[in-house]
Amino acid sequence: VNREAAAIAHPNIALSKYWGKRAVPGNFPAVPSLSMTLSGLATRTRVGFGNEPGPDELRLNGERAAGEPLARVTEMLDRVRAAARITGRAKIETANDFPTASGLASSASGFAALAVAATRAAGLQWDSWRVSDLARRSSASAARSLFGGLVELPAGEFAPSEDTLLAARPVLPASALDLRVIVCVTTDAPKAHGSSNAMRKTAEKSRLYGAWLNLAPSLHESLKEAALAGDWMRVGELAEDSALAMHGCALAAGFSYFRDATMMAIETVRGLRQQGMPIFFTVDAGPHVKAFVESAHAPRAAQALNDVPGVLRTTLCAPGDGAAVVEDA
Ligand code: DP6
Repeated sequence: VNREAAAIAHPNIALSKYWGKRAVPGNFPAVPSLSMTLSGLATRTRVGFGNEPGPDELRLNGERAAGEPLARVTEMLDRVRAAARITGRAKIETANDFPTASGLASSASGFAALAVAATRAAGLQWDSWRVSDLARRSSASAARSLFGGLVELPAGEFAPSEDTLLAARPVLPASALDLRVIVCVTTDAPKAHGSSNAMRKTAEKSRLYGAWLNLAPSLHESLKEAALAGDWMRVGELAEDSALAMHGCALAAGFSYFRDATMMAIETVRGLRQQGMPIFFTVDAGPHVKAFVESAHAPRAAQALNDVPGVLRTTLCAPGDGAAVVEDA
C-alpha cells in the first residue's frame, strides 16, 4: 500500500539571524533567530512510502535528483521511518513555484514541506512542534517555516544531546504584520558559499565569532520585544544590526556575500529612509538584498530598488502562513 501525503510551505526571511551551530551533532543553532514567513512563493511536496526497501526516488522540479539533495531527503525520511516503524522506500516529488536563483532559500520551504508531508504519509500524529524539530535537523531555518507570520527559533541548549527537541514557535500572526518584503535579486548565479560550510568556516576562522555569539541573543531579545510592541522602526534598526554583525563576522573569516549591487541596494534603502520612508534592509547567505517596508510604501520602494544598477529584478512578498498538509491520499 502506498501511504501518501502532500504539503505546502513558504520561505522565510530572518530579521535576527541564525549563524553558527553548537559543536555537537543534530544541527542545533548557537544563537536564536526570528523570521517572517512569506506568502505567494511556495514549495509543494508529495511523499509516498511503498512497501519495498530500497533507495528513495526524488523528483525536484520535475527532474530526477540524486547525490546530495537525495541524501539530505533520505536522511530526514530515515528519521520518519524509524519513528513510524516502516521500512519501505519513498517517492518524493517536490517543486518550487519560484526560481532557485530567486534570492530566496529553497531549503527552508523545502524541508518544511517535506517534514509535513513525510510525517503525515507515515501516519505519525505529530504536532507542529515535533515536525518543526524534524525540519530543523535538516536545515535550521526550515524549522521556522512550519509557522506563519513572525517566528522564533531559540538557540540549542549549550550542550544538547542529539535527541534533544528544539522547535520554532510563532511570535505574531501574519495578519498582525503590515509589512512587505522587496527581494532585490542581484545575480542569477548559485550562491558561492553554502550556509552550513560557511558557518563552519566562520566558527573556525573569524576572530569576531565570539563577539557574534555574545551579541546575537541580546539583539534577538530586543528585536522580539520591539516587534511585540509594534515598534517597527526599532525592529528595522535591530534587524540591520543583526545582518551587519553576521556579515562582518563572516568577512573576518575571509569571505563575503556582499557584491557591488548589494552595497548599492543598501545605500538606496538608507536614502529612502533619510527621505522619511520606514524601510530597512537585511541580507542572507547570498548577494541579494531584502528590504522590509510598511505596505503603503511598497510600490515606491520597489520602483526605487528596481532602478538600482546591478539589481536584476525585484519580487514583492507579503507575510504568509505556516506549512500545511494540502491533501491526504
Ligand atoms: C543566513 O538554515 O540554510 O539565512 O541549518 O546549515 O541548513 P543549515 O543553515 P540554513 O541557514 C540560514 C542562514 C541565514 C540566516 C537565517 O535564515 O536565520
